[in-house]
Amino acid sequence: MIALACDHGGLEIKNAIIEDLKSKGIEYVDLGTNTTDSVDYPIYAKALCKEIVEGRCEKGILCCGTGIGMSIAANKVRGIRAAVLSDEFSAEMTRRHNNTNVLCLGGRVIDNEKAVLLADIFLNTEYEGGRHDKRVGMLEE
Ligand code: RB5
Repeated sequence: MIALACDHGGLEIKNAIIEDLKSKGIEYVDLGTNTTDSVDYPIYAKALCKEIVEGRCEKGILCCGTGIGMSIAANKVRGIRAAVLSDEFSAEMTRRHNNTNVLCLGGRVIDNEKAVLLADIFLNTEYEGGRHDKRVGMLEE
């Protein structure tokens, strides 16, 4: 199960990603927000991270204006490894090397098409393990 959440700045790209997940039959939970009214992104980041650390969801996608606020909030939660990015190479490498479980995207940085592409890479790239286990373990300490 994939969790998604956003603030008003990330609503449009979150909806584009959801449409793509629906078309592929991928199960997801949408934790809001679902209007363009201004909301506080830390609340949404915390709710999504809870789904992951309590084992109901395997990965999450957080969208705000830049992705930065969401990533700062998410990385404060033990067990969460969140990356904010806007290019395909980073989306692939953060899964392969960092075993990230949360992707943060910026609706004022990338367009819908790029958001869908980055989410797809993030969801479909495996962690390499091996030499990265020690480093990822150090992050968890
Ligand atoms: C909201 O205006 C904006 O600050 C937020 O979406 C995000 O970009 C914060 O990092």
